[in-house]
Amino acid sequence: MSRPLRILHIEDNPDDRALIQRELRRKYADLQVTPILSATDFARVLEEAEAYDLVLTDYHLGWTDGMAILRAVKDRCPDCPVIMVTGTGSEEIAVEAMKAGLDDYVLKAAHNFGRLPVAVKTVLERAQERRALRESEDRFHAFMDNSPAVAFMKDEDGRFVYVNQLFERFFKLTRLQWLGKTDFDLWPEETARQLRDNDRAILAEDRPAEIFETFPGPDGILRHWLVFKFPVKDHAGRRFLGGMAVDITERRHLEQQLRQALKMEAIGKLAGGVAHDFNNLVTIITGYSDMVLSRIGPEDPMRRDIEQIKKAGDRAHSLTRQLLAFSRRQMLQPKVLDLNAVVSNLEPMLHRLIGENIELAIVLKPGLGQVKADPGQLEQVIMNLTINARDAMPHGGKLLFETDNATLDEVYARQHIPTQPGSYVRLAVSDTGCGMDEATQSRIFEPFFTTKEQGKGTGLGLSTVYGIVKQSGGYIWVYSEPGQGTTFKIYLPRVAAPADSVLPVTHWSKLPQGTETLLLVEDEPEVRWLVRDMLQHLGYTILEARHGIEAQVLSIQHPGPIHLLITDVVMPQMSGREIAEQLRSEHPETKVLYMSGYTDDAVVRHGVLAAEVAFLQKPFTPEGLAIKVREVLDGPAGSRTGKPA
Ligand SMILES: Nc1ncnc2c1ncn2[C@@H]1O[C@H](COP(=O)(O)OP(=O)(O)OP(=O)(O)O)[C@@H](O)[C@H]1O
Ligand SMILES: [Mg+2]
Repeated sequence: MSRPLRILHIEDNPDDRALIQRELRRKYADLQVTPILSATDFARVLEEAEAYDLVLTDYHLGWTDGMAILRAVKDRCPDCPVIMVTGTGSEEIAVEAMKAGLDDYVLKAAHNFGRLPVAVKTVLERAQERRALRESEDRFHAFMDNSPAVAFMKDEDGRFVYVNQLFERFFKLTRLQWLGKTDFDLWPEETARQLRDNDRAILAEDRPAEIFETFPGPDGILRHWLVFKFPVKDHAGRRFLGGMAVDITERRHLEQQLRQALKMEAIGKLAGGVAHDFNNLVTIITGYSDMVLSRIGPEDPMRRDIEQIKKAGDRAHSLTRQLLAFSRRQMLQPKVLDLNAVVSNLEPMLHRLIGENIELAIVLKPGLGQVKADPGQLEQVIMNLTINARDAMPHGGKLLFETDNATLDEVYARQHIPTQPGSYVRLAVSDTGCGMDEATQSRIFEPFFTTKEQGKGTGLGLSTVYGIVKQSGGYIWVYSEPGQGTTFKIYLPRVAAPADSVLPVTHWSKLPQGTETLLLVEDEPEVRWLVRDMLQHLGYTILEARHGIEAQVLSIQHPGPIHLLITDVVMPQMSGREIAEQLRSEHPETKVLYMSGYTDDAVVRHGVLAAEVAFLQKPFTPEGLAIKVREVLDGPAGSRTGKPA
């Protein structure tokens, strides 16, 4: 030892004191002895007991006794070695003292003092070992408790014998709550069984393994863990299961986002390429159908067949248009606009779309920033989300639109690949519907992904939304839980310019309105609903028929006047013209407005309609429809049916 051996010597008898110190100096030349002769002395040195290597104490003292000294020292510093040197020892005292932590016991007898240096040496060595052990244990705990991984050890029966502090902190468990418990006491049964099976496999194979496990945090929300599990054998040959687990929930989330972004990019390219080429083919199909139709007479037996080809072509065209929207290849006409205005203008339409069972709430942020987007496309986004929400709430519920300004910072961007930090305007659309599981959520933006029954959905609604949002430089995120409803959040970049003076959205209140009764015949349900909704919104009463037969039935059943028939021209069973003819007997008062996807010119050329009949070209805007309907209703009663020219 390079420094002196420092001893506290508690001994009242000066002769014994001298004797003992002489014996010690034989072995330890460099000795520093601090004699303690009173309670005051003792109290003073006790404060710094750690500074001494050894305490030597007599049993009988004038001011206290050896047991009290022993207890006080060990209390203050459990590692400090104490040797009792006494002339009046009894076996009981010795046993009691050893129990209290005494390190050795030496009798004051002439022949025995020689033993003292050996006893001191042994005691010092043992104390040194003890200290080293404690230090190593401290280091181990410091290491484990500062580790960023959750660590644990279980015995062969699955009972926890060790967990680190992070484990306790993360799962909000105290030592009492986990010690001796099994996974079955801590997690839901299903989870516990899975964990237990994993443990057993590791122990059976006697090999470490890297496992992905899922178990809930203290909030009950499932978290994903990467767990290293390994067999542990202690000195006694007992087997344990060790584990270190890292919470990878966030990381997995990011990976999923990245995968999702890459996937959407790839599908977008593919769909865009296909749609582009396909569009050309469709143009050829419909173009030639038009040409053949223009060459054959109205009664030609081929007409109906070719009309079907043309119809299929039109449908294919509308599909490719949506695919082009998804792949961000459509022509946009962006304007600087106020998202609040877009939403509030659509409000009446949204009410009609969702029906009476669903409550609509709109919360618009005053002072919302401007965005640059194609207003028609934005309306499309809102309508598609609304229809989906309606479908998710067949038994009613609540639909909420919220707008707000949002600043997305670096942190947000890192957590939401591929967001760029910046200023945005947010539109959140929430419903209280059926919600979606994770698997569904990861696919909803794919074109043609639908969970709706055949014929109900094409799976293009959200792809279109996605394409429009992306093409506008924005982001869309979905948040949903099965049974808990769904929220879509759309972020569009905020722009500084004031809103364009061109009013981008339909101002329903400025459109001509009416209260007449209209009979609407259209076989395409989407078109029919759209026209119905628009007209109802303008105040009209609508009788709605899918084809000629239904129109006939309705016209017979309807007691009052039918002011206007609005009908598609080309339909599979009965043409628009035939329907108009039929209607004449029941309702001579009815005026007629035809609508068709064919150009005005082609319809007339095909001899389907007389040139002077009222005609509305699809697609039409709400303004176009409103104005045309009013025009026909207010016009002369004359040329009301479409006789061939
Ligand atoms: N608000 C929602 N709540 C629950 N599920 C939804 C919601 N919105 C979309 N989904 C799910 O996403 C799928 C895809 O939606 P998307 O709008 O793309 O297609 P669709 O509604 O099935 O058909 P389409 O819109 O072409 O008529 C839906 O089939 C549905 O499973
Ligand atoms: Mg949809």
